[in-house]
Amino acid sequence: MNTSREHWGSRLGFVMAAAGSAVGLGNIWRFPYTAGENGGGAFLLIYLAIVAVFGVSLLLAEVLIGRSTQRNPVGALARLGGRWWSLVGLLGVLTGFVILSFYVVVAGWTVAYIGFAASGALSSTDPATLGALFQAFVGSFWSPLLYALFFMVLVALTVSGGVARGIERANKVLMPLLFLLLLALVAHALTLDGSGAGVAFLLQPDFSKVTGATFSAALAQAFFSLSLGMGCMLTYGSYLSAHDRLGVATTSIISLDVLAAILAGLAIMPVVFAFGFNPEAGAGLTFITLPAAFAAMPGGAYIGPLFFLLLTVAALTSAISILEPAISFLTDERGWTRRRTVFVCAAVCLLLSVPSSLSMGAVDGLTLVGRSFFDAMDFAATNVMMPLGALLTAVFVGWVWGAGALNALSDGRPIAWWARAWLFVLRFVAPPALLLIFLQSTGVL
Ligand code: PHE
Repeated sequence: MNTSREHWGSRLGFVMAAAGSAVGLGNIWRFPYTAGENGGGAFLLIYLAIVAVFGVSLLLAEVLIGRSTQRNPVGALARLGGRWWSLVGLLGVLTGFVILSFYVVVAGWTVAYIGFAASGALSSTDPATLGALFQAFVGSFWSPLLYALFFMVLVALTVSGGVARGIERANKVLMPLLFLLLLALVAHALTLDGSGAGVAFLLQPDFSKVTGATFSAALAQAFFSLSLGMGCMLTYGSYLSAHDRLGVATTSIISLDVLAAILAGLAIMPVVFAFGFNPEAGAGLTFITLPAAFAAMPGGAYIGPLFFLLLTVAALTSAISILEPAISFLTDERGWTRRRTVFVCAAVCLLLSVPSSLSMGAVDGLTLVGRSFFDAMDFAATNVMMPLGALLTAVFVGWVWGAGALNALSDGRPIAWWARAWLFVLRFVAPPALLLIFLQSTGVL
């Protein structure tokens, strides 16, 4: 079975694909408004610390499991830890469906907004008008569904091309494009009069806004942004060859992800401040506040569509990766062909995305435990399933795989100090910290 497993064309291809997975709506849509709601610079500092300690350790842990076992999340954990641990892999596969159910809905909006921005439909500087337009669009029945369907077809076509010829090839083109677009937007944002206040908001820490909730928000954001805790990086790691080195690759992935989040903040906050809008506008920041700012700025008619194109590209390379754990599970363990698996998984995701989309206003009463279906899926994935998956992965690698993990990481060379530090974090630091924050974010504490 292992000999026929697909692999990346090169290690650079892996880095691009994994960075493509990490950089997504999480960086460009979620990060700026989450930072805005949680105090700007102080949030950024806490976020960076969490990424440096937990993000790096868990990314390395997941990629290493994949590389060593050359299997999907379920098969990998079954091989290293037995039947019970394989359930953690299964949790990851299921989490992917939950994430995609709302991810493709938001991605569909971004596709629609390319057209809206290009046609001039958004040319108002009044956030109230744009808010009404946004509500009317996301609250309608068919249109958001059709855009989600269109987006899902793009995802399915890419994934069915396979690992090297589908996923890797798409990422090698789309990731440089994404960074170019992002840089162009930042350059433009920084030339605006009054942009300094936005930069200061993002970079100057104000610790009076920090509470326990800031930490759980930063943690949830970090895992979501790095695609951790749901088997995605594990699966991408399993397409490396068994002896590919991991240090440089994982550091590059983390750096690119953090860079993209900061650049997105620098593209958005100066615009928000220069035109006197509210940085704490929440999830609507991207779809309501920004178009208002685009309408008010010179060249906005071109910048607007470009921005939404950028979001779509970022969402595409991530959505591909959210589907991949399920694909590799069904092809490895059940022997399905890739095409058939992609078709079935994409159909299931689309079905799940229907109530998500309709709960934005088209149909009343689509709620789950007191939240709209959309928010319930987002909360379940981001605040419950991914942190739980990450916690269990840390415990597994730290305590169950333990010395085996160190040997696998060292690959025959002497065990380095940083490898020991890594295991120490997975054993003693990550589990209690993740547990605490997990209880906080689920409302138990
Ligand atoms: N990291 C992606 C983003 O920031 C989302 C994602 C989550 C991708 C989980 C894969 C797995 O948008």
